[in-house]
Amino acid sequence: MKALVLAGGSGSRLRPITYSFAKQLVPVANKPVLFYGLEAIADAGIREVGVVVGDTEAEIRAAVGDGSRFGLEVTYLRQDAPRGLAHAVLIAREFLGDDDFVMYLGDNFIVGGITELVDRFRRERPDAQIMLAKVSDPRAFGVAELDADGRVVALEEKPEHPKSDLALVGVYLFSPVVHEVVARLTPSRRGELEITDTIQGLIDRGRRVESTMVSGYWKDTGNVADMLEVNRLVLEGVEPSVAGEVDASSELIGRVVVEEGARVTGSRVVGPAVIGPGAVVRDSYIGPFTSIDRDCSVVDSEIEYSIVLRGASIDGVGRIECSLIGRQARVTPAPPVPRAHRLVLGDHSKVQISK
Ligand code: G1P
Repeated sequence: MKALVLAGGSGSRLRPITYSFAKQLVPVANKPVLFYGLEAIADAGIREVGVVVGDTEAEIRAAVGDGSRFGLEVTYLRQDAPRGLAHAVLIAREFLGDDDFVMYLGDNFIVGGITELVDRFRRERPDAQIMLAKVSDPRAFGVAELDADGRVVALEEKPEHPKSDLALVGVYLFSPVVHEVVARLTPSRRGELEITDTIQGLIDRGRRVESTMVSGYWKDTGNVADMLEVNRLVLEGVEPSVAGEVDASSELIGRVVVEEGARVTGSRVVGPAVIGPGAVVRDSYIGPFTSIDRDCSVVDSEIEYSIVLRGASIDGVGRIECSLIGRQARVTPAPPVPRAHRLVLGDHSKVQISK
């Protein structure tokens, strides 16, 4: 069994963060979301992984390398433009050969990994195995329709009028029969070769498509709210540890990780929270569900339920919540007069000002 990991796409819902880097590399508890997927693949006993990359190929390569740190052998497959998930299978044809494979969307996050799913596929060998999850707005996903016996009868990509609330999770298992369908696909309304149409094609040909409901937690980390939510969930499971310095006037409460070279002084950190290597937290409050990445500084400020990326600084600004702050971003007070906000915002930035 091989794995095909999709790490292309433009990440439009995470702009402006994704103007400067790949959406799959946005950190969750200070580790790129993509790494959780690669670890899950390695845990399931898979070694050979094709990583499909687009414009952000260089960054993905720099982060993942040859895969050996995950116990994987990674082959990079370049997709010239975002032509759809099934197009990724098409360009991976040679890499995949006649092996079964798991296709894993690099921005999907599944608690509990995929080992059980992969084991079940190995045992039962259907032609495709998909995972479904109940969602509140199915229009944003591929949607499955089941019959009275719970068998998948039809699938639709981002339907206007969904026939159920069961979304297709971005982890799919296929036997090589899938290539026959992919080779005959035509682009959808949005001009892409859809994996949803591929699975429908298998059903139409009378092939065995099995589905399971996601037992644990699943999120597509495509937008900021979901990203913060996944971060919360992962932080809830961290083991507290202090490798950095914490002075006597600081207080750490609950699951707090202070990594090597981090310095916490005169501050109160209420976990779960992680303070990355080399980060400085001074005279500040770090509240629950907050990840401060390496080399950040938080001074004379309060921050909670947020993700702060590498090298950002927050200085003297009162309280910040529910925020995603990009690399090297600077958040500082404005001069006292006139009372005005001063902003340098990247394209598609979002600022919410409390009055
Ligand atoms: C893709 C698939 C969709 C699936 C979703 C899961 O959508 O096309 O069927 O439900 O991933 O994350 P995308 O996130 O590319 O819009």
